[in-house]
Amino acid sequence: MPPRILITRSLPPEAMSLAQARAAVDLHPGPHSLPRADLIARLKDKAGLVCLITDTIDAEVLSGAPELKVVANVAVGYNNIDVAAATTRGIVVTNTPEVLTETTADFTWALLMAVARRVVEGDGYVRAGKFGRWEWELLWGADVHGKTLGIFGFGRIGKAVARRARGFGMRILYHDTVRADAAAERELGATYVDKTTLLKESDFVTLHTLLSPETRHLIGATELRQMKRTAYLINASRGPCVNEAELVQALKEGWIAGAALDVYEEEPKVHPGLLSLPNVVLAPHIASASRETRLRMATLAVENCVAVLEGKTPPTPVNPEVLRK
Ligand code: GLV
Repeated sequence: MPPRILITRSLPPEAMSLAQARAAVDLHPGPHSLPRADLIARLKDKAGLVCLITDTIDAEVLSGAPELKVVANVAVGYNNIDVAAATTRGIVVTNTPEVLTETTADFTWALLMAVARRVVEGDGYVRAGKFGRWEWELLWGADVHGKTLGIFGFGRIGKAVARRARGFGMRILYHDTVRADAAAERELGATYVDKTTLLKESDFVTLHTLLSPETRHLIGATELRQMKRTAYLINASRGPCVNEAELVQALKEGWIAGAALDVYEEEPKVHPGLLSLPNVVLAPHIASASRETRLRMATLAVENCVAVLEGKTPPTPVNPEVLRK
């Protein structure tokens, strides 16, 4: 009898075929999330779960699934899962790092360029039929090349963002809880600085941290006031890393020049103050959303799930200590 797994959303055919070849799949096809009560009911007899960041897998959900051995998130972030509760129950949690690094870094740059050079405002201007003639003073933005980029979170994605910045001849500062090794700093031309120095000296501040108690509201009024009035904030990590209400105030009162966001504090809600501001670019959490990468993420999540169920080491566990027990 193949192991029973629940998949909370239709995945690309390649990933579905892999799952169906190795497990008995109970699929919630979407497009809406599986309601919590249904999730708990359908998970009761399952050994594996492949889920998305919109599925909240907390202690209550886990306790209703006595046979569960693995929760495979189709995402690099896993703040939707109570990993401590899973670990206590001996459940392996996996995520999808690496496969989305370059795509997310690409999109960070799309946000950065869009806000600095006012691409979205320009698009709106043309569509509104306002482009009557070439205008000398139309939509002046900020240069990107030669400026200072400040990166919070110098993991895989932060480093991939830095690598691209070299092509723009930028000075690169970074801050993290752990300093990168000297070889990585040299290769990327990146300088480790404290948080205040990064905020004060950067023209673009970009966030690439995981969401944790330490990074919740990493950027709030105090930090926004430390940034240059000409600087921009980019966030493609997790919404709660930024205090959104204080960001709105900063943008309205000109403490900083602009922001570009892919994620929101209470997703999918967006602070209403952001919606009316012209100096903000807003994206619907799509940094990893290229066709190629979403396929790789789905496939990796299924590989993680079936590996655990087959007694093998999954490629990318979040709590490997469970495997050693
Ligand atoms: C997306 O936000 C992810 O964590 O993969």
